[in-house]
Amino acid sequence: MDRTRPDRALLAPGDIVQLTDPKGRHHTLTLEPGRTFHTHRGGIAHDDLLGQSEGCVITSSGGTTYVVLRSHLEDFVLAMPRGAAVIYPKDAARIVMAAGVRPGGRVLEAGAGSGALTCSLLSAVGHDGLVVSCELRADFAEVARTNVERWFDGPPANWNLHVGDISDGAWAADAPYDALVLDMLDPWNHLETAQAAVRPGGTLVCYVATTTQLSQTAEALRTAQAWTEPRAEESMVRTWHLEGLAVRPDHRMIAHTGFLLISRRLADGATPPLRRRRPAKGAYPVPEGDTST
Ligand SMILES: C[S@@+](CC[C@H](N)C(=O)[O-])C[C@H]1O[C@@H](n2cnc3c(N)ncnc32)[C@H](O)[C@@H]1O
Repeated sequence: MDRTRPDRALLAPGDIVQLTDPKGRHHTLTLEPGRTFHTHRGGIAHDDLLGQSEGCVITSSGGTTYVVLRSHLEDFVLAMPRGAAVIYPKDAARIVMAAGVRPGGRVLEAGAGSGALTCSLLSAVGHDGLVVSCELRADFAEVARTNVERWFDGPPANWNLHVGDISDGAWAADAPYDALVLDMLDPWNHLETAQAAVRPGGTLVCYVATTTQLSQTAEALRTAQAWTEPRAEESMVRTWHLEGLAVRPDHRMIAHTGFLLISRRLADGATPPLRRRRPAKGAYPVPEGDTST
């Protein structure tokens, strides 16, 4: 089934749908003939949804109404089972853009974790592209495979999943890549691999949770002398309460998830131009014996 086609008018078996109750709580289910979805507010027979128009409103046996919509990828990712922590949709959207991922593109990622970013990458490269995912842990790889195959309704033809360390080079048969996304604790230890995997001009995006990882990765990239000056960013999405004159930011938000560190691979043999801006005083430790400052 092609979930990228929004024109399938009526709800059908295999559709992943999201039910939203009057309080805004969501339930995600895959439609199957003969099954019943049970909530503490009564049951809903899948058969009552099959053949209905997307956007219909259904009433459970307990009298609660639910809006029924096919899940978007962001709804699915937030509801799907997790092994490792997932990359949130707000960050996945930025990664796709920052890495220059486009239809027909070839992308390598590690680790696959729960497969959340994988789904975004696969959608972005489309049928003519390729995503190769490496995941160290076999149990997490299985979670990723299940989630990806559930979202795409089967194994995507444009996806290869390798179980093992990205530095093992199992991805090499599909190299070079237009982009590499590293989501792991120690991306600075995999920059030689990155240099071998990414074509000149291709993009490396590292997703890290802490400032120390960010700093260590940035300095390792500079030392490697094979990448453009890295840039760092983070995204915050703040939702708003909307009610009459009470229009204000919601009290709660997912403030910090991670940082993106973005850099492009230089041509073989090219050396990065000297940085014009001098580092700020105190940015680097003073070498022993240096009395110049
Ligand atoms: C935070 S999770 C990735 C989540 C994933 N990006 C997602 O959106 O679902 C980090 C994963 O990297 C894996 N990992 C760590 N080091 C690795 C390596 N050297 N090669 C491959 N996978 C690695 C871990 O096992 C873990 O599953």
